[in-house]
Amino acid sequence: MPGELGFRWRSALRWSAPAWKRVVDQRVVAARLDAAGRARLAHLATRFDLTTWSEHCSWPEWRESLYVLDVVSQVVPSTPEGRGLDVGAKNGCTLPGLATARPGGWDAVELDAHRRYVWGTTRRAYGEALAKAFPPCRFLAGDVREVTGRYACITWFLPFLTPAPLEAWGLPQRFLVPDELLAHVASLLVPGGTLLVVNQGEAEAALQQACFERVGVRAQALGRVESALSPFVQPRFGFLVRQT
Ligand SMILES: C[S@@+](CC[C@H](N)C(=O)[O-])C[C@H]1O[C@@H](n2cnc3c(N)ncnc32)[C@H](O)[C@@H]1O
Repeated sequence: MPGELGFRWRSALRWSAPAWKRVVDQRVVAARLDAAGRARLAHLATRFDLTTWSEHCSWPEWRESLYVLDVVSQVVPSTPEGRGLDVGAKNGCTLPGLATARPGGWDAVELDAHRRYVWGTTRRAYGEALAKAFPPCRFLAGDVREVTGRYACITWFLPFLTPAPLEAWGLPQRFLVPDELLAHVASLLVPGGTLLVVNQGEAEAALQQACFERVGVRAQALGRVESALSPFVQPRFGFLVRQT
């Protein structure tokens, strides 16, 4: 279904089947990782309390949350107290990682929150289940431009910067507004707060850099952001914005 029609259709059909999942524990996760990933998991488990993850997380949720925990705990400096915001959160699968890296509550906002899996469960249902399991997190279904809170830490993994990914994700091109989104997201930071943006591939990182310059947001380029827990093939690049 074309982007606009499909998006409107699924946004109107909000009913969801329950958030069924197969929860796995840390030993199962370790067995599925390669040697470097296992070593990193062992290190993170000594630094952070991952015990509740085994009660609430499926393998994909563990995998994405471990990656985010590893990255955020390495590159985000200490921030003032206050809530965190994750922009473009899909089904909230990184909430355990974010809540563990930085306690205090996270809001996970997702535009296409009513997209559903073949078994009838929506992203929103999964996001709300994880938010409930990691209080005081919340899953917000909607456009980040509607978010008006103030945040001490914001993460934004893979913002859309070109038309192709929007098309691939089945979203209308009217949502390709990177400058407007960046200006709004940066305005949500409290003084002393930090925004982490992560992009995929060098070309996208160059586009992100140009976006910061156009909008007039000062960002520190972190270069390649590495993690032994990354399931991703393409290299990723990070930027940090500190609100003064
Ligand atoms: C490329 S995906 C990245 C998803 C996730 N952050 C990750 O790293 O896998 C971009 C996500 O941002 C969401 N998104 C795009 N525009 C948005 C907006 N204006 N407000 C909230 N979410 C948005 C999309 O629906 C999609 O889930």
